Amino acid sequence: MSKKLKIGLFGFGCVGQGLYHVLNKSTGFKADIKKIVVKNKGKDRKVEPELISYDKWEILNDPEIDVVVELIDNADDAFDIVSEALKRKKHVVTANKKLLALHLEELYRLQEENNVSLLYEAAACGSIPIIRTLEEYFDNEELEKISGIFNGTTNYILTKTINEKLSYETALKQAQEQGFAESDPTSDVEGYDPKFKAIILALHAFGLIIKPEEVLNIGITTLQDEDITYASEKGYKIKLTPVIRRLEDNKVSVFVLPRFIKAANQLYNVDNEFNGVIVEGVFSGEQFLQGRGAGSLPTGAAVLSDVSALSHGYRYEFKKYAQKHVPEFTNDVLVTAYLRYNVAEDLGQLPFEEITERYSGGKYQYVVGRINLRHLISRRAYILENKLFICLVNEQVSLHERVQQTSGKTELVSY
Ligand SMILES: NC(=O)c1ccc[n+]([C@@H]2O[C@H](COP(=O)([O-])OP(=O)(O)OC[C@H]3O[C@@H](n4cnc5c(N)ncnc54)[C@H](OP(=O)(O)O)[C@@H]3O)[C@@H](O)[C@H]2O)c1
Repeated sequence: MSKKLKIGLFGFGCVGQGLYHVLNKSTGFKADIKKIVVKNKGKDRKVEPELISYDKWEILNDPEIDVVVELIDNADDAFDIVSEALKRKKHVVTANKKLLALHLEELYRLQEENNVSLLYEAAACGSIPIIRTLEEYFDNEELEKISGIFNGTTNYILTKTINEKLSYETALKQAQEQGFAESDPTSDVEGYDPKFKAIILALHAFGLIIKPEEVLNIGITTLQDEDITYASEKGYKIKLTPVIRRLEDNKVSVFVLPRFIKAANQLYNVDNEFNGVIVEGVFSGEQFLQGRGAGSLPTGAAVLSDVSALSHGYRYEFKKYAQKHVPEFTNDVLVTAYLRYNVAEDLGQLPFEEITERYSGGKYQYVVGRINLRHLISRRAYILENKLFICLVNEQVSLHERVQQTSGKTELVSY
């Protein structure tokens, strides 16, 4: 028999209001929001005034509140709130991917030590139930990869620029007007947001806790018309796709890069603000989940699902983290990529191991070939400052040392 929970809610913005709405409309599940703590006084709130407070201790010190739902937009304040709540043996539900990615190990430890539950389905791909799918369904099967579209803002911009030929600026403005993109879209367009989500999924899929600074994220800020022309001529779309891939020797590689997507790929038709996740199991093969990765009600529904799970005593078991054969994270891999560049010096900065296609025209130049991810990591700032565009042409990732062993010494192409 499930218990009626008393919730202390932090944040009453897009997701907080979404939760409030779906909870009120829910017929099958009831929980009481006892207090809502927000930041700015003087805002008009569509809720009974006595529910609102500006003092976090009104929730944290209240022994009747057994669940803290953290839905604020500041990862530092969120860390203080969530860690304090866990120490006070309150269960926590959060949608905050940045908080989680930055403090995964510490938060894991706190929920273990205090024997409480920390759930965060809404933090990775909004309403797509990917974390519980990994925790419950794929808890034992080894996985080969997880990839997909984890960020609605960039997918919206890419859809509008490629399908409808809008300029990047117009597409971004539209995304902001429609509420998909924040006024400061840096975290989305530079690929931080999908990286945080990939880090969370890497824990549940492979038992890995990876620091955000170890994972490459290159977003879509340097996309130009030439890149769109290249993609269109080949019949590709461009999507920003995190890749979490298991390799030989029990290694796993994680990175976020734009990618050309062919029509046969399930992600090809995941357009606008939608997200899609592909999970590949060793035995089960590929599974594909698609849904709304953001938005008030879809994200509120994911939060409510966690609160409901809590009422049944649900906790993540982190089975893959606890097991003995946790893989090793590596960036020493070769990926196949397109690089649109300006001058020969750019290629000197980004040494390709092998080049299969090259073009040099009056307006722009590109190569397609294999490059070590480590070069992209060390030259990330160079790529962005010089407005080069790097884009995966397929999903293949190979361990660098393996390629060298099987093909002898790989030859560096000189220019
Ligand atoms: N929006 C989405 O579709 C979506 C999807 C998935 C996950 N998320 C995550 O969900 C979280 C909330 O996002 P959102 O879009 O709902 O943000 P939002 O609309 O900007 O709302 C943020 C809320 O947090 C409150 N707040 C900020 N700092 C606070 C503090 N120190 N103490 C108490 N309240 C504080 C704000 O108070 P005031 O009202 O007083 O300003 C506001 O109510 C973020 O972590 C975000 O990454 C969002």
